[in-house]
This record gives sequence, C-alpha cells and structure tokens, in this order.
Amino acid sequence: MMRSCIIYLATLSLFYTGACQTNRKAQTPMPSMTKTVFGKLPDGREVYQYTLTNQAGCKVQIINYGATVRSLYVPDRNGKIEDVVLGYDNLQGYIDGTAYFGAIVGRYGNRIGKGRFQLDGKTYQLTINDGENHLHGGKVGFNKVLWDATVIRDTDNPCLRLQYVSPDGEEGYPGTVTLKVTYTLTEKNEVRIDYEGTTDKPTILNPTHHSYFNLTGAFTNTILGHLLLIEANDFTPVDEGLIPLDLIMSAEGTPMDFHNATAIGARISNQDEQLAIGKGYDHNWVLTRKFENRIRKAAELYEPASGRLLTVFTDQPGLQFYSGNFLDGTAKGKNGIAYQHRTGLCLEAQAFPDTPNKPRFPQVTLRPGQIYRQTTIYQFSTR
Ligand code: BGC
Repeated sequence: MMRSCIIYLATLSLFYTGACQTNRKAQTPMPSMTKTVFGKLPDGREVYQYTLTNQAGCKVQIINYGATVRSLYVPDRNGKIEDVVLGYDNLQGYIDGTAYFGAIVGRYGNRIGKGRFQLDGKTYQLTINDGENHLHGGKVGFNKVLWDATVIRDTDNPCLRLQYVSPDGEEGYPGTVTLKVTYTLTEKNEVRIDYEGTTDKPTILNPTHHSYFNLTGAFTNTILGHLLLIEANDFTPVDEGLIPLDLIMSAEGTPMDFHNATAIGARISNQDEQLAIGKGYDHNWVLTRKFENRIRKAAELYEPASGRLLTVFTDQPGLQFYSGNFLDGTAKGKNGIAYQHRTGLCLEAQAFPDTPNKPRFPQVTLRPGQIYRQTTIYQFSTR
C-alpha cells in the first residue's frame, strides 16, 4: 500500500508544472498531488505537506499537523494566481500559534459555556481555555495533533484524507472519536471538505474549518473592503464571554444584517452592543433553514479590486463569521508578514456555539452506530 502510494505520488508529480504562479492560460497543468516533508515535531514524528493542484492551476497546500490548509492559490479576474489564506512558513509557527490558522477545529468548534455540559444525565467538564469557557476543543484540540494522511486515488480530482483518533476523555470529552476529513480540490476551483465521525460512547461532535481568508492577494491589506453576504435572517447574540444567550434574534436593521452584500468595514465601528462584545464580528448566523441538512449556499465574500469571489456551501445549521479582531501583529506569518488587526476573516460552518447547553438549538450528540457527517465547500471564482 505504502509503496503503491509513493509510486502514485511520484507519477502525479511528474505532471506538475508549477504553473500556478504564472498566467494560467500559458500552461495547462494536470491535476496533481505532491508530498514533501514540512518539519519534525519535538517527539521526532515527521509532518508532511501535500500540494494539490488542479488543471485550472489552482493549488492548495495541506499539512497533516492540525489537518491544516497552509496556503490556497486562486486567480483574480486577470488570471493572476495568489495565496488567499493566512498561515505560517514553518511548523514551529503552527506549534506555537494560537490563532488556528487554516486548521480543522474540534471536537467542538467555538465555545461551550464554562466548559460544561450534560449528556444522558451525566455532567462532563471540559478543559477551560478561554476565560471561564471552553474554546475550539481545548488546550490540545484537533489543530494541535498529527493526523494520518492517505492520498485517495479513485477520483479525478486531487484528494487527501486525514484521520485522527481522539482518545476517550481527551480534553474532557467522552468516547473515542474517529474523525476523517477529506479535502478535494475540484476543477471548479472548489476546496471541498467532507467530514465523517464515529464514536464508541455517547458524545458531542462539532468540528469546523478555520481558514482566515484575505482575497486581496496581499496580507498587508485589511479585509474591511470585502463585501459579505450571508444567507441568514437571524443570528445568535452573545454575552460578555461570547456564549450565546438562549436567543435567536433577527439581524434586520442591525449591523449583523448581511442579507445583501455589504462591506465588512461599513458598520463594524457602529455603536452596537454585540459589536462591542465581539470587538467586531464574532458571531453565529442562523443559516436559512429551508434546506437544512442539505448542502446549500451559506455565504458570498467578494473583493472588488481583485474580483475574487468566495462562495461557501454547507449542510450545517450555522456560520460563525469572525472578522480577525484578535489579530494584532504578533503572529508572524508567511514571508515574514506580521498579521495585523482584521487582515483575515473566518467563515466557519458548524452547529451553533454552546449547543449542548441550549436544548432549542440543533443538537450535536453522536452515539455509537451513528455517523457524523458534514460537507462544506469553499468555491472560488471571479466577477
Ligand atoms: C472565534 C473567536 C476566536 C478565534 C480564535 C473564532 O472562531 O469565534 O472568538 O478568537 O476563533 O482564533
């Protein structure tokens, strides 16, 4: 198996022309997948970087530490291909980093109030790592572990499957959870993420993807000029610890209303209690329910200068829009660029924050014999 995999990689890499950095019309690379060593963990295990390239010349680089998208090269309206996600040049950046750049986050994306929840009459206490709350899976979440990677061959598109087995009790969660995350780069310039999770005891599971997008092509620019549309009428207001009040509120007439495409910077400094608490946008939108559990459009992010358009599709009930409010220049990213305030934004498809403590929200309980599934697609085009 290992041997055939290596041969496959070697064969594919023969076709890779590296054309992404140049005008894509000049060359037509074959879809390909290459694998290189990205670094070594302190315990000696090697971390690999997989480079997926499609025929249109788009490229996504994924490392198996944190199942992380490290870079994502897509064209602007003139065919210029540039990286649109924040990340680090080396493994140490990911080991030390606290911003979850590009990672798969879990077991629970976003916060659980006081890190506590009840399931089948039993109370579970999770690691507290954000004030008095639990955030993004705890101190060592899915973003800080090494995943097993397998190149998937039975598809026309470059496709990488990552798997992590989270032991019973990890960060306080019950049950051994096995999560498979499959990244596919399609010819429609989509990064498709399919999740599949199982457990051996009743538990909760709500993973998400945490890329910070900046469609301008330069990470020194802020994201305030990007236009955002969210397919939602309502959002979940939060308390001072960013835990949802047990409320679903209409966004209409508030700075949370993104029903029509609106510049992120247009209202971010408005006098508004929710914006003050979030230090900007850091909220969950209740995606239109009509097609719940089916993949439907969740959001559009458009950057007028480059013409890049990101359309997000998902089968999840919620979308967390985080406007990079905690970026403050301390994270030194790719090419030595210090990521300043609001130079990247996240669109995280998931169930609502603190769902296990809010019985009226769509639930995330997973029991033995059930399969957790999620599909989220980040599609890139131009206008
Ligand atoms: C959360 C933010 C948090 C950030 C961490 C986002 O998903 O909503 O509150 O600070 O992740 O980088």
